[in-house]
Amino acid sequence: MSSARVEDFYGGKSILLTGASGYLGVVLLESLLRGFPKIRSIYILLREKKGVKPESRKEPILKKEIFNKLKEKQPDVFDKVHVIPGDVALPRMGMSESNFLKLIEEVTVVFHVAASISFVKPLRFMLVSNAMGLDYVLDFCRQLKKLDVLVYTSTAYSNSNREKVIEEQIYRLPFPAQRFLDEIK
Ligand SMILES: NC(=O)c1ccc[n+]([C@@H]2O[C@H](COP(=O)([O-])OP(=O)(O)OC[C@H]3O[C@@H](n4cnc5c(N)ncnc54)[C@H](OP(=O)(O)O)[C@@H]3O)[C@@H](O)[C@H]2O)c1
Repeated sequence: MSSARVEDFYGGKSILLTGASGYLGVVLLESLLRGFPKIRSIYILLREKKGVKPESRKEPILKKEIFNKLKEKQPDVFDKVHVIPGDVALPRMGMSESNFLKLIEEVTVVFHVAASISFVKPLRFMLVSNAMGLDYVLDFCRQLKKLDVLVYTSTAYSNSNREKVIEEQIYRLPFPAQRFLDEIK
């Protein structure tokens, strides 16, 4: 797709981004704000962390150095970033009902980047935060009045059980995914 067409695609769109406080999420947030000025709104889903309320976490994120140039050139662009308190490991992503109802009307593009990337946490914790979190995001997307695209970011090592080459393709499980989740539970 040409860059002009990508810009057109984002024109007037509202986006939900999870994981905006993380390594990839911050880069994505900056890229979207800088690259696509016609975006209507970017909702960032943030949880409370170490006693800091979600609403108070936006400022420290936007203070990161990566946003400095954008602040000089387009300071108003940050007005379109809105915090949605939530937690992807909870049903309905932990959103309030009013936010949920607002977002399903408005959002058409979802970037799900939130994940726990600690590989030493218990499997059950990883199951809830990563696998079930994705389930809640999918549930949310199914309820959107109009969905253009859901972009899910995961890790290249998801198929580490395979030997030799791991292709950029989806490897189907040899049994229903629900059975896999039930077994882990
Ligand atoms: N970093 C890379 O180079 C890279 C490359 C390829 C793929 N990936 C994949 O991209 C994804 C993100 O990686 P990252 O490096 O950006 O990780 P990260 O820096 O650890 O960021 C994780 C993000 O997820 C959020 N999060 C975790 N659990 C949450 C929950 N229950 N509810 C709401 N938010 C939650 C964190 O929020 P808090 O601030 O609240 O903790 C943080 O914003 C992972 O799936 C990773 O495997 C990363």
